Order: sequence, then C-alpha cells, then structure tokens
Amino acid sequence: MTLIAVLPGDGIGSEVTRETIRVLERVCGDRLSYEEAPVGGAAYKAKGHPLPPETLDLARRADAILFGAVGDPDCDRLERHLRPEQAILGLRKELALFANLRPAKLFAELADASTLRPEVAAQIDLMIIRELNGDVYFGEKGMRTTTSGLREGYDIMSYDESEVRRIARIGFETARARKGRLCSVDKANVLETSQLWRDVVIETAAEYPDIALSHMYVDNAAMQLVRNPGQFDVIVTGNLFGDILSDQASMCVGSIGLLPSASLDANSKGLYEPIHGSAPDIAGKGLANPLATILSAAMMLRYSLGMAPEADRIEAAVSAALATGARTADLGGSFNTTAMADAVLAAL
Ligand code: IPM
Ligand code: MG
Repeated sequence: MTLIAVLPGDGIGSEVTRETIRVLERVCGDRLSYEEAPVGGAAYKAKGHPLPPETLDLARRADAILFGAVGDPDCDRLERHLRPEQAILGLRKELALFANLRPAKLFAELADASTLRPEVAAQIDLMIIRELNGDVYFGEKGMRTTTSGLREGYDIMSYDESEVRRIARIGFETARARKGRLCSVDKANVLETSQLWRDVVIETAAEYPDIALSHMYVDNAAMQLVRNPGQFDVIVTGNLFGDILSDQASMCVGSIGLLPSASLDANSKGLYEPIHGSAPDIAGKGLANPLATILSAAMMLRYSLGMAPEADRIEAAVSAALATGARTADLGGSFNTTAMADAVLAAL
C-alpha cells in the first residue's frame, strides 16, 4: 500500500491537512495509508528539534509527503538551526527535492477575488519552477564584526552549473508539456550567480530547440507579473527569486490560500505543500482556506503516485465548490475550514 507521510507542522497546518485527508480518503479509499509526525515549531516543542530523526525517517520511507506549514512566533528568537523553517529547508535538502513547481491559474469563479482588474487576472495560467536546493538559502551565512566594530550579517549566494542545468531541464520539459514558452528570471545585470545561471540556461536551450526561451531580470518580472501576467507560461528561477515571485503570483489569482506546490527529487518523489505559511494570527480558529492543501494533494496524486484521474476529480471538485459560492474569509466569504472542505466533498 502507498504510504503518505503527513507532516501538519504549525499554526493552520494541522487544520488544512486534516481536511485534505478527508478528501483523499474519499477519492482514494484504502489505496493510501497515512502516518503522521511532528515538524517545525510543534516538533521543537515536543522533541527539541524542528526536524526530529523519526520525522525525517518517515519522510524517507513514505511514497510521498503531505506537508502543512511551519512557522511559530514563539520560536523566532531561537538559534537559527532550531527554528521551525529549518524543518522544511532540511527536508528539501535531505531528500534532494530540488524542483519546486508552483502553478498559478485563475479559477474563473474567482475573477473578482484578484486585486488585478478581472480582464488582466483572467489571463493568468503560469507555472513557476523554483530551484530549491541552492542559492543564498544554503550558502555560508553568519554574523561577524567588521574591523570598525560594527555587527555584520552575511549570506553567500552561489549556484554551480550542474544545479542550474538540472533545474533548467525541468523548466524546458515543463514548457514542452504546456505552451512551449520558458522565461528564465535572474539578475544577471548585477549578480555573477545570475550571469552563470543565464549562460547555463542558454547552453541547455540547445537541447530544446522547440521551446521559445526568453530572459527577464527579476525586478522587471515582478512588474510584468502584475502588468501583464498572461504573457507567462513557465518561469524558471532560483530559490530566492522564486520564493518572492510565487507569493506575488498567488495574490494575482486571488489568495495565497489557493496555491499548491510540489517539491520533487530526480525520481518524482515529492513533498506537497500549500505555498502559504502557518498564519499564526488565524490558527486554531477554523478560518484557514484548505484549498491550497487540497490542491497540493491533487498534485501529489498526479506527480508522485500515478493517479492523474483522481487528481483531475479533486481539481474539478474544487472548481465546482467555488462555483456554488463556497468561500473562506480570505476570499471574502464566511465558510470555515471544515465547511469549505465539505463543499469540495459534496462536489466529488
Ligand atoms: C516557502 C516559504 C519557505 C521558503 C520558508 C517557510 C522557509 O516561504 O516555501 O515559500 O522561504 O522557502
Ligand atoms: Mg515563500
């Protein structure tokens, strides 16, 4: 039987994963089994570490990982290696989950939820491919004192060419399965890391003559995402730029509570999580939107478990639930987390 590691994490993580498992149970029955383990601040509080060995072991044993969110204000002043965020960074690194797929598409039912004009928002159907194992996230970092006695923080940004090539290939392959357009986002006018990125993407393009490749500086990409998001098909970018642009893209389609993500290794084993965080301000109140996690589970069925028809069913049920007017607070509605999942279940 297929084993799903369920790592709810902090804040609203447990609320949204709980509802998502109800949907998975309905669609997949006893073909999936679930094993839960603590992660993030919850794991620190229970076991003294945000990514305890048993949790990492479960993640390795499982066929796929369903992840809620990490982040807990109680833990913000801990030494960095003990903070909740280290759990997700550790899982990405330990499991070599280097390819982060973050789709953003407007649900027709939600054209009015975007802060963009409806005719602009209606054009959005893009996929951000974010590199997850390198960049300034994983470079040497620290605090030191300058010669003049000032405190200085530093984080080294770097990519080697093999890291760029493997994520570029994912970008080209993804574009090939979609509309055939790939936009590589960098800051090559300022950063050496980005110059190498751009050079390697151009070299890799020789393997994909059928794909229309373009390049964009990240500042311009941020502007174009709100000016004319319809121009994008697939965006491939580094870890830091992808983090920022994917939050931006989420708001363009209405709410960060809607966007799923997949983080894949070279063999399509994956961790699936909503791109939103733990939202401590609304945690425990039943206000969270479970759709991003439910849609992440659909991605899990499609990308890691070979269950594309079931993934289609879940995605169609989400659209149908929205069409009936079901809306959580982030979308201007009054459905609580469970009621929103009930609406999806009713549409299945
Ligand atoms: C994300 C999050 C994480 C990141 C945090 C929680 C470490 O913002 O998945 O986008 O920066 O990658
Ligand atoms: Mg982020």
